[in-house]
Amino acid sequence: MSHPLIAVYGATGHTGRLVASELRARDRDIVLAGRDGGALKALSDEFGGPPVHEAPVDDPGALRALAERADVLIHCAGPFTHTGRPLATAAVEGGCHYVDHALEQHHTAWLFDEMQEPARRAGVTMITAMSFYGGIGDLLAGATAAGSEDIERVVLGYAVSDWLLTTGAKRTAELLFADTRRITYDAGARHVGYVEPRNAVFPFPPPLGPRTMIAPVPFSEVVTVPRHVRTARVEAQLTAATFEQEGVFTSEHADAAARAGSRFIVAAQVVTAAGGSAGQVSGRDLWRLSAVASVEAAVRLADAPHEPGVYGPAEAFPAEEFLRDLERLGLLSYSGRTRS
Ligand SMILES: NC(=O)c1ccc[n+]([C@@H]2O[C@H](COP(=O)([O-])OP(=O)(O)OC[C@H]3O[C@@H](n4cnc5c(N)ncnc54)[C@H](OP(=O)(O)O)[C@@H]3O)[C@@H](O)[C@H]2O)c1
Repeated sequence: MSHPLIAVYGATGHTGRLVASELRARDRDIVLAGRDGGALKALSDEFGGPPVHEAPVDDPGALRALAERADVLIHCAGPFTHTGRPLATAAVEGGCHYVDHALEQHHTAWLFDEMQEPARRAGVTMITAMSFYGGIGDLLAGATAAGSEDIERVVLGYAVSDWLLTTGAKRTAELLFADTRRITYDAGARHVGYVEPRNAVFPFPPPLGPRTMIAPVPFSEVVTVPRHVRTARVEAQLTAATFEQEGVFTSEHADAAARAGSRFIVAAQVVTAAGGSAGQVSGRDLWRLSAVASVEAAVRLADAPHEPGVYGPAEAFPAEEFLRDLERLGLLSYSGRTRS
């Protein structure tokens, strides 16, 4: 019997390599894919010879052949502003389930707005933002809001330190900072336009305590959270100190061991007229968490049928259960929900 084949696109990048290693450790059949055939061959030699598939993003035929060959594709090559649409389109045309690491709001919005029907018709399940930024916030919002009614706002606070940006992450950050057409979610609707960034204070519980935040940061929760939490407002924030650390933007050549030293707390505040609820996760190594979260999603799609369509993480899987699974894998600690 043949086993499901999982394609890793962008396998030569930091995230792609972690994803491929995790799949190999789980004895999964993989194909290493990307734009650079030589680098893919070298990676394959290192990994004991899994097949490779060279497919630049401007070659729809090669991308489609990859999607026709694989059962699930994990898209790890970014910025998704450049790579998102060609891969997602190929996945639908080739009948291949799809998981991505995008935090880019416009890519995620495009998937829901334009690819929902094509994905359903093709019998393809697509899960976007299945990563750290965007993904953990979406899962935490789902787990924290469960059972609450009349929610006024959901605020997601990311406290991140020792984050050493890769080339892909740095290029993504540059594009996001420069984007003047930001998506926000307010008064129960999506808006697109210029947003003046402000400094807010997010009340992380002790021992971290309240922190100065960049608010809002243009992550994908404003698109994904309203799909499963009925609320008037969603906002993601990131500790201002994250970008003040030395080395954040000059760490493209850092090795994997140094990158593994990142530390994070992600907290959700769900505010209702009656009070609300809070929840948080914490841990080390946001890169590995990102990679394994996407692998968890991909193997679920590979092993059991899932309703076709486009989903965010918490829409695709029960949020609290998924966070507990990540906790069991040693990737984070989850505090559970506290009500006030
Ligand atoms: N949401 C999150 O928390 C999260 C977490 C991890 C990663 N990500 C995203 O995932 C992406 C990759 O991150 P990374 O850390 O793995 O970066 P990286 O180490 O710099 O690797 C980037 C990968 O993308 C490929 N790539 C870049 N532009 C491409 C293009 N136009 N066509 C085809 N392939 C292209 C690169 O191929 P070459 O080697 O040929 O250049 C490389 O394989 C970034 O967009 C990042 O923002 C998001």
